[in-house]
Amino acid sequence: MARVISCVSGKGGVGKTTFVANLGIAASEFGHKTIVVDANLTTPNLGFHLGVPLYPQTIHNLLRDEGNIYDAMYIHPSDLKVIPAGLSIYDLKNTDPSKLSNVVNKLREEHDLVILDGSAGLGKESLASIEAADEIIIITNPELPSVTDALKTIKIAEEMKKPIIGVVVNRVRKMKSELTKHDIESILGAPVISIIHEDKKMSDCIAAKTPIVSYDKDHNAAIEVKKIAAELTDTFWSPPKKDLMFVLKRIFS
Ligand SMILES: Nc1ncnc2c1ncn2[C@@H]1O[C@H](COP(=O)(O)OP(=O)(O)O)[C@@H](O)[C@H]1O
Ligand SMILES: [Mg+2]
Repeated sequence: MARVISCVSGKGGVGKTTFVANLGIAASEFGHKTIVVDANLTTPNLGFHLGVPLYPQTIHNLLRDEGNIYDAMYIHPSDLKVIPAGLSIYDLKNTDPSKLSNVVNKLREEHDLVILDGSAGLGKESLASIEAADEIIIITNPELPSVTDALKTIKIAEEMKKPIIGVVVNRVRKMKSELTKHDIESILGAPVISIIHEDKKMSDCIAAKTPIVSYDKDHNAAIEVKKIAAELTDTFWSPPKKDLMFVLKRIFS
């Protein structure tokens, strides 16, 4: 029976989809039957991150009770399953997110882990992705607007009785103006489970349609995501030792 985790933020552009694509691949490579679902129904883009071709059957069809759930599952080379979203204006206008829980419940039996890529804001579709989940991971950037939006999201998730696994702080530039891990934990009242730095390579991954865990498996961001994937899937995994050989290999690779 799957564990269903929704990755949400409040603010847009903080790195939810990037994180979901990487977490999905990492969990799948740890041997867990994992499926990621694009629950960002108005501005979806999980498919772009994972190189999913334009797909005839999507989450939008499933929410309208059209067609077969298996026809909406794209199998990524990592074995990760992906339910992409439709990109048309018709899909945008003609879908009711309230049925998301029904669709997600159909995925529970045949998977170990279901990961939902939530939308920005706290509108209907974002609430539907929280409602459909058992637990929540919050993604934020280390700036006040993003953290205050994350706080609203946490409060709503708590009202909906959805436990918060923790907070991923993404796009950290180590600037003095940024909130620290301690600041973020005090504001949000939830543990920071990962810190991922700003890195141009992360945007290169979009062009390559290959998330960082596959694009550069020893990259710091890849290691951070794998740590979380290992914890969520109860996998014994230790990060590579950053000894001289590791450093030399990275310099010359
Ligand atoms: N750690 C990072 N360093 C640099 N760019 C990043 C990082 N994480 C995400 N990005 C870029 O930020 C943009 C928004 O990320 P995305 O995952 O789509 O955010 P969201 O799903 O929260 O809207 C993308 O272009 C992505 O490549
Ligand atoms: Mg997104």
